[in-house]
Formats: sequence, structure tokens, C-alpha cells
Amino acid sequence: MGRLIVVSNRVALPRRGEPTAGGLAVALKDVLKANGGLWFGWSGETTKGPTTGELKTVRYQGIDYATIDLNENDYKGFYAGYSNNILWPLFHFRIGLLEYDRKQADAYRRVNRDFAKALMPLLGPDDTIWIHDYQMIPLGAELRALGAKQRIGFFLHIPFPPWAVFSALPGADKLLRGLLAYDLVGVQTQRDLSGMIDCMRHGLDLRTDADCGVVSSAWGPKRRTQLSHHAIGIDTRGFATTARKAAFGPDAQRMRASMGDRKLIVGAERLDYTKGLPHRLRGFGALLDNFPEHRNRVTYFQVAARSRNEVASYRDLKRELDTLAGRINGDHAEFDWTPVRYVARAVARDTLAGFYRLADVGLVTPLRDGMNLVAKEYVAAQDPDNPGVLVLSSFAGAAETMDGALLVNPLDAEAMAEQLDRALKMPLGERKERWAGMMAGLEEQTAARWAENFLTELEEQVLPVEPPT
Ligand code: G6P
Repeated sequence: MGRLIVVSNRVALPRRGEPTAGGLAVALKDVLKANGGLWFGWSGETTKGPTTGELKTVRYQGIDYATIDLNENDYKGFYAGYSNNILWPLFHFRIGLLEYDRKQADAYRRVNRDFAKALMPLLGPDDTIWIHDYQMIPLGAELRALGAKQRIGFFLHIPFPPWAVFSALPGADKLLRGLLAYDLVGVQTQRDLSGMIDCMRHGLDLRTDADCGVVSSAWGPKRRTQLSHHAIGIDTRGFATTARKAAFGPDAQRMRASMGDRKLIVGAERLDYTKGLPHRLRGFGALLDNFPEHRNRVTYFQVAARSRNEVASYRDLKRELDTLAGRINGDHAEFDWTPVRYVARAVARDTLAGFYRLADVGLVTPLRDGMNLVAKEYVAAQDPDNPGVLVLSSFAGAAETMDGALLVNPLDAEAMAEQLDRALKMPLGERKERWAGMMAGLEEQTAARWAENFLTELEEQVLPVEPPT
């Protein structure tokens, strides 16, 4: 095997002042180091010049990074537009939020082509390429069009809806066909794999073979594309250690002092409509309405880090949350108790890890989510002698494997209140039992194992044989 080339829209280049890297970045960096690799993507900068502009390269801790700047208008059309205002809602089953614009579809294609053009000269014949997420779906096909023969894998981090949803996208079949340029396409869960197979069948009239492969000649010689699911994990041991230390740190101490003897429910995500934040607030409101014994006995702390502010639906959500949090506090607060503590900005990872460990309940209730690593981090952060309870949406990918969680449908505020009540009253024995089962799973399914499994499967794929010329 040659080098490993990782491609993603965001490149995990360490930047001063940014919270420490997440499990995914750590895992990818480890495999990149082991294979002498390169990480390629967007620099995070925009310019007035063309996207194909100068390549910036740096070497940091044994890994080469190569990034390109995006032209300002391309950025708007590709990132804020097609990726986040069209594909994001589509893949999260929210077709009502999808605002289609053909110019944005063109910008998406153009940027993927520009990425391919910039990447192509950096590739060696034996390199393996691993492309990540919905911003880059057509990149494999663009590389094939430029003559790339290397093994190329693709992993989708977000859910894969079935054709009944996917077909709402104008040009859905074209986007799907792009997947056939890859040797391996990975998704998070069994449910996502079923969605993708359903799309292949009904969108492209392709049936999978017994091992979940599809064969086509869409991009040159006949190629078999393996479809499979690989649940992403976290650096379980590392996060547990971080949480243990952080629980004694000054932030956790301040948090503990501010709680008095009240219980703590914690939630933390990007401020994103897929996370079901208003539903979660309503669920907590229902807890206080329906179970008065928890009034003045429990505080809900929610971090909602501002995200994708250039997209209108994200700005609308911020206003909705402001109002809802204000209403619940207005209705229930006492002079010495604020039921909802809501922070609309990012909190450093280490600090969060300490808060997770303090919290009696981790409340993770997205409307749809590819996996949800907060659910995994919350569990990894717990004190084995006194673990908290995870209340988890059945629509998070994590629900497929985390069976020690209390599952909820986030649309049902009363049901969420009942599960919160159950979690807050759960005896120590049951908490320990539920936690131990989940923790054992997390120790098996780490981010490193996920990367290793995906790459092993990619290396196993048989590449097309070129006909003699
Ligand atoms: C999700 C997506 C990633 C994306 C991240 C942050 O986790 O799967 O591809 O990078 O959100 O979103 P942003 O738009 O800031 O890159």
C-alpha cells in the first residue's frame, strides 16, 4: 500500500484558540501517521480569486496537510448553499427545509471538480484515497474523470435516507451515480445501509449482490462498489481520562458549587435543527409540569454552539431557542433556581468532559443523527462507581448499539418527561448495569477501530482490470 490520502471539507489542522480535536480527528491522524499520509481539504479561507488557486501545504507532527482556498461565491453556493441548505436537510429527512437552487448545485459540482484538479497531481499510483462526507460525494467521480485508478473509499457521516425521501432532490439519480465511482461506500448503521440499498434499487435500478456490492460501468471499466456500515466510535479511554481529570478542574468545581444538592441534566451540540433542541426543551418543561417533585431539584444545562450562521434556518432556530428557554425559566424559576441554563456558544472539550461526569443524566435527543458522539462521550465520561443515565433518541445512529440507554421519540414531550423522571430516580444498581454494558461496547468500537476496519475493507476490494490497449 502507498500512502493514505484523507479528503474532507474541514481539515483538522490545529489552530490556536480552537477546542481540542475530537475523536474522529485523532483517529484519522493516527492512521495517517502510520501510513505516511496526506490530509487534503478546504483551508477555511475564502478569496476573491478562483478556487483552483494556490495550494497551501504544511507538515505537522508527521502528517502533510494540503489545503485550498475557496472563491467567495463558490463558498456560498457549495458550502452554505448546496451542502448545508440542500443536502443536509435532505439526508436528515427534512425535505420541507430543502431550498433547491440550480446555481448552488452547479457550484457544488464546480468545487468538487476543483478539489479533484488540485488533488490529482499530489497522488501516487499506489495511494489509497479516503473521502469523507456529504460535501464531497462527487469527488470520486471527478477524480476518475481525470484518470485516477487508485482505490477510493467514501464514508458518509450523516444518515442515508431511503429513495422515497432522497428522490425529492432534483438530480437525485446523478448524485447517487457518483457513489459508483468508489470501491467502498461506508455509512454508519444498518438503517443507513438499507436506505442506500433502497436508493440504488429504486433510483438507479441496481440490485446489490449477496455481499452488498453493486456492479456498474458508470465511471470507466466495470467496477464493483462495496456498500457497508461501520459505526464510528470515540477515543474511549482517552475521553474517560480527560473527564476524570476535568472533574477536579476549576470549571467542574464551579459547576458543582453552583448546583448545590440539585441534580444535573446535560446536553451539548452544535445549534442545529437536526438536534431537536426545541423538542428537548419542551420535554424538560413537561418534566417540571408533570412531575412537580423535580421542581427546584434539577437543572438542565444545554450547550448549543453557534453553527452555519449564514444559513437562515439556523438563525431562525436560535431565536426559537431563546424564546423557549426564556419561557420555561419565566414559568418555573425561583429566586434561587434557574431551571434551564442555555449557552449559545462552544465550550472547551475538556470542560465539557468534566460536566458530563458530574451530570446525572445525559440528554441526547436528535430528530435524526448519523451516529452522535456526544452520547458516546457522555457514557465514557461517567464515574464507574456512580454512573449517570443516558436518555437517547431512537433516531440517533448510536441507538442501534447503545442498548443501555433509555430510548425516546423526541417528538413526544410527555414520553421524554417520563424517561427523564425514570433516569433521575434510577437506583444505583440499574445505573451501573446499564452503564457497564454500554462502556464495554465503547471500548470495543473505538474511532481507531472504525478507521482500521474501513481501511481493511477498502484494501480488500478487487480493482477493475483495464482492458489491454
Ligand atoms: C457534521 C458533519 C461534518 C461537519 C460538521 C461541522 O458533523 O457530518 O461534515 O464538518 O458537522 O459542520 P461544519 O459545517 O461547521 O463543517
